[in-house]
Amino acid sequence: MPGYPVLPEGLAYGGDYNPEQWPEEVWREDVRLMREAGVNLVTVGVFNWGLIEPAEGEYDFGRLDRILDLLHSAGVSVDLATPTSSPPAWFRRRYPGSRLVDRDGRVLGGGSRHGFCPSSPDYAAAAERVVEALAARYAGHPALTMWHVHNEYGWANAHCHCPTSAEAFRAWLRDRYGEVGALNAAWGTTFWGLTYGSFDEVEPPVVAPVGLLNGLQLDFMRFSGDAHLACFRREREVIRRFSDLPVTTNFMIPNCKPMDYWRWAAEVDVVANDHYLDSARADPHIELAMAADLTRSVAGGRPWMLMEHSTGAVNWQPRNLAKRPGEMRRNSLAHVARGSDSALFFQWRASRYGAEKFHSAMVPHAGTDSGIWRDVVALGADLRRLGGVRGSAVRAEVALGWDWESYWALELEWRPSVDLRFRERMEAYYEALWREHTTVDFVHPAADLSPYKLVVLPSSYLLTEASAKNLHRHVEGGGHLLVSYFSGIVDENDIIHAGPYPGALREVLGVSVEEFHPLRADETVTLRPSAATGRIWSERVRLTGARAVHRFADGPDAGHPAVTRHDLGAGTAWYVATALDPRPGPEPGDDLRGLLAAVLDHAGVARPRGLPDTLEIVRRGDHHFLINHADEPVTVDGVTGTGVLDGAEYAGSATVPAGGVVVIRT
Ligand code: GAL
Repeated sequence: MPGYPVLPEGLAYGGDYNPEQWPEEVWREDVRLMREAGVNLVTVGVFNWGLIEPAEGEYDFGRLDRILDLLHSAGVSVDLATPTSSPPAWFRRRYPGSRLVDRDGRVLGGGSRHGFCPSSPDYAAAAERVVEALAARYAGHPALTMWHVHNEYGWANAHCHCPTSAEAFRAWLRDRYGEVGALNAAWGTTFWGLTYGSFDEVEPPVVAPVGLLNGLQLDFMRFSGDAHLACFRREREVIRRFSDLPVTTNFMIPNCKPMDYWRWAAEVDVVANDHYLDSARADPHIELAMAADLTRSVAGGRPWMLMEHSTGAVNWQPRNLAKRPGEMRRNSLAHVARGSDSALFFQWRASRYGAEKFHSAMVPHAGTDSGIWRDVVALGADLRRLGGVRGSAVRAEVALGWDWESYWALELEWRPSVDLRFRERMEAYYEALWREHTTVDFVHPAADLSPYKLVVLPSSYLLTEASAKNLHRHVEGGGHLLVSYFSGIVDENDIIHAGPYPGALREVLGVSVEEFHPLRADETVTLRPSAATGRIWSERVRLTGARAVHRFADGPDAGHPAVTRHDLGAGTAWYVATALDPRPGPEPGDDLRGLLAAVLDHAGVARPRGLPDTLEIVRRGDHHFLINHADEPVTVDGVTGTGVLDGAEYAGSATVPAGGVVVIRT
C-alpha cells in the first residue's frame, strides 16, 4: 500500500495554491516567497475542472504543466488535486439530471461549487474521465508527491433528493434488507400504519407534514455517506492505475456531521483534515484540540495531515475575527502536538475576486510588509526545527466514545428535549478533560478499549448490543466507564432497547431510569453533597446495584440519585444524570471538571497537577508541547531537556511566555 510520509523529511508546510487566479509574473514571486517561508508542499488544482477540460472531452493542461514545472524547479512538492468538487458550467448544462436537489425539492443553482448529485451516473462518468486524463498526464511528474481527491466530500451536497438518488437509495435498501419485510421490521413501520409493500414504494426523506420514520432518515444518512464514499473510491481506483503515491481527501472533522469518518479513514492512505477556528467561541483552541484528537483517533493513532487552516480570519462566519497575536502559531503547533505531520493553509495567496476574497491567506492582500507574512515566515522556521517529531505518536489513557450514527440519531426530530445535542455534551466533557490537562483519544464504542483506563460516553443515545457488551467487558476486566444521561437508549434502527432506560447500559451501570424530567430552557438543578449545578436534564434514577455519589437537592428529582457509581468485576461504571458545567463552579470541584478529576484519580490516570487551565500540555513521542493560551507567563516544573524552538536547555522547569509555545525534547 502506498506509504506515508509523503515528504522525504520533516513536516509539511504550505497550503492550497490557486495560481490560476493570477498572471504568470505573480507565480514567479509566489515561488520566491514560498522558498523564503520554507514552504515545501502545496495543493494544486482543487477547483480546476473547468480550466483543464474547458469543453467536454477537450483538455488543456498547458497552465497546469507550467505550474508543476515551476514548483518543481523551486523544490516545492505538489499535492495534486482532482477537480471534481466543482463541475464545470458545461457539465451542468449538458447533464441537468445531475443537479443537486435539496430536502425541500428545490434544484440548487449553478455559479457555485459542489452542486452535483453524488449518485448521478453522468457525474460518475465525467469525473472518471477527467481524473483519468489528469492521472495519466501527471503520475510521473517529479513534483508530484501525493494525490488529493476532490475537496471536502459531503460538505455542501451531503444529501441529494433527486429521482436518481431516490432510485439509488432503493437499490441500497434492497441490498441491505433483501426483502421488504426486514425493512418494515427495522423501521418499525406498523407505527402509523406506514408499512411498505415493496421497495419501490420507498421515497427519500423529503419535507413531510409531521415527523418522519426515524429508520428511514437514519438509513438515508447511511446511504448518502456510502454514495460519497463510492465517488471517492472510483477516483482513487483510477489514480491507482497510474500511480502508487499516497491518495487522500480532506475531511472536515468534526464539522461535517453527515460523514462517518471512522469509515472514511479506512479508505485513505493518510488521514487529512481541514480545521477552522470558530471565532464566536470563548476558547476556540479547545475545540481545535478536540478536532485534532478526533482526527488522530480516526487515523488509528497514526500521524495525519492538517490540510487546511487559516492564517487569520475566514470569510464565512457571521463575524470573521482576525487571529490574535501568536494565535496562528499556537493553532498550528497544537495540531502538530496532537499528531499532525503538517501545517497547511487555505490558501497561499489571498484571492482578489470570488466568494472567498475576504478570506485570509499566507500572502495577505496587505503583502509581505504585514504581521501575517512575518508570522508565516517564522512558523516555517518553527516547523523546520520540529522536524524530529514527525511520525511519532500521542498516547492517551482516556477515551471519549464518538459514533457518528449516534450523532445523527440523537438529532432527529421529537426527542425529549431540543437541548439534547450531541456536540453540547461531547464538548463539555472534552473541555473538562482539556482543563484537567488530560490528553484523550476518541473511540467508536465497539472498538478495542483495552488501551484505556477510562472510557467516557458523553452522548451515546444510539448504542448497539455489541457495543454495550464491549463496554461491559471493559469494566469487568478492570477498566473504568463514565456515562452521561440519554445514552444507551436505542439500537442501530433507533428502536428503544426493551425495558427501562438505559436499556443497553442498565446492567453495567447498575441503574435504571423510570422517567425523564427534562428541564425548562433556563431552569437549573443543584446537587448534594457537591453544590454543582445541572442544566438541561434531570431524571428519576433507581439504583439496581450502583450507589448514589451525589443526589439532586432540588428540582423534579429532589432526593434521588444524580451521580452514581457501580463497582463491577475489577472496574467501576459511573453515571451522570444531568448536564454539569465544564467551567469552574462556585466551590472548587463543584463542576464537571471536579467530578472528572475524582473519576480520573479513581481510574489511576496520571496528569500534571497545579497548573492553570489555560495551559495546553501534550506529549508527542519525546516532545513535550507547552502552549500558553493566557496573557501571563506560566512556569511548569518537572520538565528537562532541550527547547526545540528556542534552543534553550531546560533543567527541571520551564517558563512559557504569555501566548507562547515551548517544546522540550527529552
Ligand atoms: C474549506 C475549503 C476551501 C475553502 C476554505 C475557506 O472548507 O476546502 O476550499 O473554501 O474552506 O475557509
